[in-house]
Amino acid sequence: MYFDHSATTKTDERVLHTFIEASSTYYANPASLHEAGNQAEKLLERARTQLLDTIGLGLTEGIFTSGGTEANNLAIIGFAFANQHKGRHLITTAVEHPSVLHTFHYLEEQDFIVDYLKVDEEGRISLAELESCLRKDTILVSVMHVNNEIGTIQPIEECARVIHSKSRAVFHSDCVQSFGKLLPADFQDGPDLITLSAHKIHGIKGSGFLAYRKNLRIQPISFGGGQESSLRNGTVSVPHAAALAKAARLQVEEVDLQQFASWKNQLLNFFAEFDDCFVLAPHASAPYILSVAFRNVTGEVVVNFLQEQGFIVSTSSACSSKKTETSHVIQAIRLPKDFEKGVIRISFGKNQTTDEMNQLMEAIRQLMQLLKRGVRK
Ligand SMILES: Cc1ncc(COP(=O)(O)O)c(C=O)c1O
Repeated sequence: MYFDHSATTKTDERVLHTFIEASSTYYANPASLHEAGNQAEKLLERARTQLLDTIGLGLTEGIFTSGGTEANNLAIIGFAFANQHKGRHLITTAVEHPSVLHTFHYLEEQDFIVDYLKVDEEGRISLAELESCLRKDTILVSVMHVNNEIGTIQPIEECARVIHSKSRAVFHSDCVQSFGKLLPADFQDGPDLITLSAHKIHGIKGSGFLAYRKNLRIQPISFGGGQESSLRNGTVSVPHAAALAKAARLQVEEVDLQQFASWKNQLLNFFAEFDDCFVLAPHASAPYILSVAFRNVTGEVVVNFLQEQGFIVSTSSACSSKKTETSHVIQAIRLPKDFEKGVIRISFGKNQTTDEMNQLMEAIRQLMQLLKRGVRK
């Protein structure tokens, strides 16, 4: 039973069908002049328009990428370099995904100045700190919407209001973990650029999108044949684009946030029974991600025990779960030492059932008994 939807999701059969059909029918290069190329280009542009319509938020431009990582790199490096004549100050948070955090580290090496916003014990930034960091030469702020490790929701609508009313900076948000669940949303003000990834919404791996407002100046980070307005060079995969537009539409139509919220509440009540574990960001997290810390046990022990019982969960994040050091997010929320090695993440998806949830809780109850008796370490 799969409870690791924040790491990735199973590709929806209908999305796969779109991918196969586009691959076998619209295989021509969309940049080619012949009719088959025109047809492929039409499908590509239809996918782009559909995806932008699904996203909303006033974002009318978009570039297909190889995933969330590349979209984050393009947004941050591409915007920073293209606008460095206006200033070299950037702001992000201490808890971003590595594809954002390491990109800012790289820009620091290129003589940009970066402020990293701190977070509270639930992983939330402070709007007051954001406001106090904004300077005349701030050109870009990047704040993720939902944290991939502990699920914290950042107040991106309020961030947009502060940034747009107090500065000339542009606002990027990594929405990989929120799109199709908390987004689209009816925001009064919102990010100027957002990053999406297909494989978090039952789409195909190796596919993502950077959506942005008109008239933003971005420069390419790789060079080639001028595809995607010269911002993402290389032959465009029309099947990936069509499949992403389909995955986004299906996800938005079919997601059941109320069901997620009710499972999350059930788990919150369940974990409250045990003194030796507690839920991280219980109030601030999205309804579909729940991270739990166990006292004096490693996350690996918990993940392995649950795997033996037929449940797939992960240690805090898929990308850091094979490393042994404590993740930057767990460090940023200052988790007590006796809990920091024992974090696991449970994340729900659309094919989950209440029966699976009940079975998961039963397995965790068994584990807690074994741990209490010292049988498992
Ligand atoms: C918040 C966040 N941003 C970016 C990414 C990277 O996306 P991709 O795997 O498509 O490169 C991930 C993937 O785990 C993520 O969770």
